[in-house]
Amino acid sequence: MRKSMELKMLDWDSTFFEKKIFSAHLNNDDNIEELDLQLQNAKADLAYVFIPINSKIENKVAEKSSMVLYDHKLTYKMNLSGKDFPTVENIEEVDTTPDNDFISLAISSGIYSRFASDPSLSHKFEAMYELWLRNSLNKKLADKVFATKYNDFITSFITCKIKNGVGNIGLIATHENYRGKSLGKNLINHVHHWYLQNNIKVSEVVTQKANKIACAFYENYGFEISREDLVYHWHFKN
Ligand SMILES: CC(C)(COP(=O)(O)OP(=O)(O)OC[C@H]1O[C@@H](n2cnc3c(N)ncnc32)[C@H](O)[C@@H]1OP(=O)(O)O)[C@@H](O)C(=O)NCCC(=O)NCCS
Repeated sequence: MRKSMELKMLDWDSTFFEKKIFSAHLNNDDNIEELDLQLQNAKADLAYVFIPINSKIENKVAEKSSMVLYDHKLTYKMNLSGKDFPTVENIEEVDTTPDNDFISLAISSGIYSRFASDPSLSHKFEAMYELWLRNSLNKKLADKVFATKYNDFITSFITCKIKNGVGNIGLIATHENYRGKSLGKNLINHVHHWYLQNNIKVSEVVTQKANKIACAFYENYGFEISREDLVYHWHFKN
């Protein structure tokens, strides 16, 4: 018997967006009509539907006009074994309450996010990124937050978390006036140095294909694409 599709109620998202939200990871054998029924029975308001790129199911999904593609998600990976990463002195760990400038910088890292582009969710996009930053600084969502400053002004920052032996970069941004000065590259070096100190040999970061600058930045650094998924939002009228 084939494995049934992975449908999960998302408690955090449902509470935050005040909608009943599910996620579904589909594979080639899955049946969209069956998913439709299951979601209607569950009185879902919204489902995030994830499908791997170039899968046969892509055509079936594209036929459903109620499903809208909001993200072409790229997972970048880098093997750190045998490598050495230089650290620079001006990077510091931060864990204090963020000011408005720092919050704006965190929001700038999400401008290509599906939460910003879906008009039914975008009213909460900035609040979501602010919360992501706050919960990274208080260590709920991150192990470390590193930043560079000019006086007290944060010019660039990065968050990271080790999960199942893999280092994950969460948020990263350089203030627009400070871009192109290697601040971002230095932050990743610093995080990789910290990973290796903790015996972590694999680094991953997720971005959107539409974020061309971020893709160029990660690829220039030496990351390679390890996974590509399409993410559709399927809204239901209840
Ligand atoms: C992506 C980002 C963090 C890069 O930060 P940065 O400090 O400007 O990057 P660096 O100066 O360290 O750049 C390192 C390399 O990345 C590449 N790169 C950086 N910006 C680039 C751009 N605009 N176009 C093409 N390549 C770029 C270059 O190869 C660069 O090397 P070079 O300076 O020798 O040419 C920054 O553009 C940013 O904050 N963007 C908005 C937030 C965002 O999208 N975050 C990622 C979310 S996943």
